[in-house]
Amino acid sequence: MLSAPGFVKKRKKGEKIVMVTAYDYSFARLVMASGAIDAILVGDSLGMVIQGHASTLPVTLDHVIYHCAAVKRGAPDMHVIGDMPFMSYQLSPQQALQSAGRLVKESGVDSVKLEGGVRSADAIERIVTAGIPVMGHVGLTPQSVNLFGGHRMQGKSDASARRIMEDAMAVQEAGAFAIVLEGIPADLSARITDALRIPTIGIGAGPATSGQVLVIYDLLGMDDGFNPKFLKKYENFSMRVQDALRQYSSEVVSGAFPGREHSVYTKPKEADDADRT
Ligand code: KIV
Repeated sequence: MLSAPGFVKKRKKGEKIVMVTAYDYSFARLVMASGAIDAILVGDSLGMVIQGHASTLPVTLDHVIYHCAAVKRGAPDMHVIGDMPFMSYQLSPQQALQSAGRLVKESGVDSVKLEGGVRSADAIERIVTAGIPVMGHVGLTPQSVNLFGGHRMQGKSDASARRIMEDAMAVQEAGAFAIVLEGIPADLSARITDALRIPTIGIGAGPATSGQVLVIYDLLGMDDGFNPKFLKKYENFSMRVQDALRQYSSEVVSGAFPGREHSVYTKPKEADDADRT
């Protein structure tokens, strides 16, 4: 399993860090079985892709704990990061530590992630001091969607880019072992990656980061209508799942399924036939 210090070692060696999100036991098992992924993030994106909300804001700590526990059961040998949801850490460093502690104790995650730079530095420091590794997250931080006026790219102006650089430095100085850079220009993310010692994990932040993370349903092409510029779909799940469901339905309707090979009889067919003659 890649440990929190292992993330930093990988960066030092110039090895890319590959992450995906997962939210349940079955997908976590597949991620682990692939042997190709370094760590799983149980993102609060579950509010959108699992619960169907328009943002991550309604997600609660109990929701995240529930999904983290399922993922950890599916991928016990992988580094699993639990995302701290909106209002589980913003009130005070003490609230942040309490929430992070619940996540670790009740779900078994290996580290936690929270959004914000300068404004979250005290919370990060408090959690790390208690022995829980923290991943930071700056740039397009989805919990600030209402402040940004939508899920909009950040860091395009000089002032905004400067603030994001300051945020990233604050996260590192507070003791985080890695940081997500989301929705910022590729050149800014290259400058931040150069300036930091800890690894940067990008999503919509170009190729210069120390690693990448994608929402697993996005990379598998689960939603035909979701096609942001940063996303590459490695599968067309949406079409393949619908095709499979149509085939299943047509075989049930026609009587082709279930066949004898999917059924159990009290007697073998030959004995049954012999009884009748
Ligand atoms: O919630 C999430 O899935 C995330 C990643 C997209 C970085 O925060």
